[in-house]
Amino acid sequence: MHISVIGTGYVGLVTGACFAEFGLTVTCMDSDSKRIGKLEKGEVPFYEPGITELVAKGIRDNRLTFTTDIAKAVDEALVIFIAVGTPSRSDGSADLSYVEEVGRGIAKHMTGYKVIATKSTVPVGTGEKLREVIKASQKQPIRFDIVSNPEFLREGSAIEDFLRPNRVVIGADSAEAVAIMKNLYRPLYLLETPIVITDIPTSEMIKYASNAFLATKVS
Ligand SMILES: NC(=O)c1ccc[n+]([C@@H]2O[C@H](COP(=O)([O-])OP(=O)(O)OC[C@H]3O[C@@H](n4cnc5c(N)ncnc54)[C@H](O)[C@@H]3O)[C@@H](O)[C@H]2O)c1
Repeated sequence: MHISVIGTGYVGLVTGACFAEFGLTVTCMDSDSKRIGKLEKGEVPFYEPGITELVAKGIRDNRLTFTTDIAKAVDEALVIFIAVGTPSRSDGSADLSYVEEVGRGIAKHMTGYKVIATKSTVPVGTGEKLREVIKASQKQPIRFDIVSNPEFLREGSAIEDFLRPNRVVIGADSAEAVAIMKNLYRPLYLLETPIVITDIPTSEMIKYASNAFLATKVS
């Protein structure tokens, strides 16, 4: 199966490289052409144990490619992950402008059914908002499903956390999208990783609750 990851920062690159390791064909897209140029040569712009080797392996095996072209990333993939930043505004709210911009880009270029999955950490209700943004930006109505699939990796053990997670959370309201998402994570069945299937707002809340719990523990 072919998937794309939009936003090739920390989470996006780990996601892309690890899905390539699972055997999927992955296109990683980013609007930062310098970053993409380096990644095409196997140069990773941050330190994380194991990532450089995994990226090199993905490139060598022709399972991992990089682009700045969103049209290409949308066209090739059945599942499109959104992994762009969601920085805090001065009032503490999340800035969703990057997520919405990607939503509009996907809408403009899609020509067939897509599963659009948020990996970015987003407030409850963002999935619904994203659905409206995409619908409003489509040239003609094309079927798609929204999925919330939050990332729980920790910097410093990101690869291990992705390849051997404590759980995978999939929030969706379509049986077809759930089946496609479960298929992506099939290698984890051997590890008996719990796969939590829920609705989109609950999945979004699980990530925020988990972050709040961890922050409380650190405090
Ligand atoms: N870093 C972590 O440990 C971690 C863990 C779990 C979840 N998250 C969440 O994942 C999301 C991404 O975090 P990150 O640390 O990877 O961010 P990051 O800043 O490292 O990467 C974001 C990338 O998105 C790209 N981008 C921005 N707008 C774009 C667009 N319109 N099209 C294509 N690319 C675009 C940027 O160029 C950048 O490379 C955030 O919501 C964050 O809260 C982060």
